Amino acid sequence: MNPTILSVVGARPQFVKAAAVSRVLRATPGLTEILVHTGQHHDREMSDLFFEELEIPTPAYHLAIAGGGHGDMTGRMLMALEPLMLAAKPDCVLVYGDTNSTLAGALAAAKLQIPVAHVEAGLRSFNRAMPEEINRVLTDHVSRWLLCPTPASIANLAREGITAGAIHVGDVMFDALLHARGRSLRQSDIAARLGLPAGGYDVATIHRAENTDDPRQLAKVCAYLDAHARERPMILPLHPRTRKAMAANNIAFSTVRTIEPVGYIDMVALVAGAGQVFTDSGGLQKEAYFLGKPCVTLRGETEWVETIESGWNRLWTVDGFAPRRAIPDYGTGQAAETIRDVLVAAFA
Ligand code: UD1
Repeated sequence: MNPTILSVVGARPQFVKAAAVSRVLRATPGLTEILVHTGQHHDREMSDLFFEELEIPTPAYHLAIAGGGHGDMTGRMLMALEPLMLAAKPDCVLVYGDTNSTLAGALAAAKLQIPVAHVEAGLRSFNRAMPEEINRVLTDHVSRWLLCPTPASIANLAREGITAGAIHVGDVMFDALLHARGRSLRQSDIAARLGLPAGGYDVATIHRAENTDDPRQLAKVCAYLDAHARERPMILPLHPRTRKAMAANNIAFSTVRTIEPVGYIDMVALVAGAGQVFTDSGGLQKEAYFLGKPCVTLRGETEWVETIESGWNRLWTVDGFAPRRAIPDYGTGQAAETIRDVLVAAFA
C-alpha cells in the first residue's frame, strides 16, 4: 500500500521538526505527504523564514487560524481540519509536539478514525497549569504511534497505561540541527552584525504563558536576566507574546538587548557563539546541549529531565549543575528515518 500522510504544523518549533521529517518522507518512494499549516504562527520571522531557510515544501493548505483563547483557536482549527481530512482521506495524520495545532490535528483525525502518529510523544512536565501539558496528554491518548524522543518519555506513557505503539525513535530536533549546523556556521553573520564577541555573550528567550501572562512573574524573570546581563552581554530575540505582555505591563529591560525573532540559521549561530543559554523553550534547552552550551531553564520544571541529570541544564530555582556527561537518549540524528520506517512498516 502507498500511504498518504497528512502532517499538521502551525507553530515555530513544529516547522523545525517537520523540516527533518518531511525531507525523509518525501524522499521515500510510494509515500505521499500532504502538509497543512494551521496559521497559528504567521509573522514572517515566526513562519515564512523557517519554510525558506529549512526548505520545507509550501503547505498544500494554509488555514490562517491564529490568536484568540485556547478553546477558540483549537475549535476553529478542528472545524477547518475535519472537512479537509474528509476530502484528503489520509491513511495517517502526523502531529508534532504540544501546541494547540498538535491537539487540533490529533483530535480531528481521531474523531474521523484516522490513525494518529505523534512525534515527541510522552513528554511530561507534570504541571497541568501549562496548556502544553494538556495538549500532550490528550494527543498521546488518541495516538496510534507514539514516537518518543527519550526513554523517559516511554516510561511516562507506561505510567499512564500506554505501551502499545510507543517507540523510542530519538529526537528529530537533533536531526534538524545536524542538518543545518554547517550551513548556519558558514552563512550566518548575526554575531558580527550585532557586534557580539564569540563566547563573550549569552543568549536568552522567554515566551511561555507561565512567564508572560502574570506581570509579577514576567517582571521577576526580566530582572533575573538583567542581573546576569550586567555580568556578560545578553541578547534576547523577543517573541510576539512577550513583546505584547511587556508593553501592556510597562516592563522593560535595563541591560538585556532585545532583537526581533530570528530564523533557525541565525539562532543556531547565536547559540553556537554564546557562553550560556537562558530559556523557557523546550527546543532551545536541547539545542544548547547539542551545541555544547550550558543552559539555565526559566521554569519550575522541565520535560527534558535528562538535560538536568547530565549536568547541561539547571532550573533557575536550583543552584549548580549536576556532574556533566553525554546524553545518548536523543539518538544519532536519524530519528526521522526511524519514524519513516515505523510508518512504512505499518502500511506495508
Ligand atoms: C505556542 C505554543 C507553545 C510553543 C510556542 C513556540 C500553544 C498553546 N503554545 O505558544 O507550546 O512553545 O508556540 O513559539 O500552542 N503571535 C504573533 N505572531 C506570530 C505568532 C504569534 O503576533 O507569528 C502572537 C499571537 O497572536 C498571540 C501570541 O503571539 O497573541 C501568542 O501566540 P500563540 O500562538 O497563542 O502561542 P505561543 O505563545 O506562540
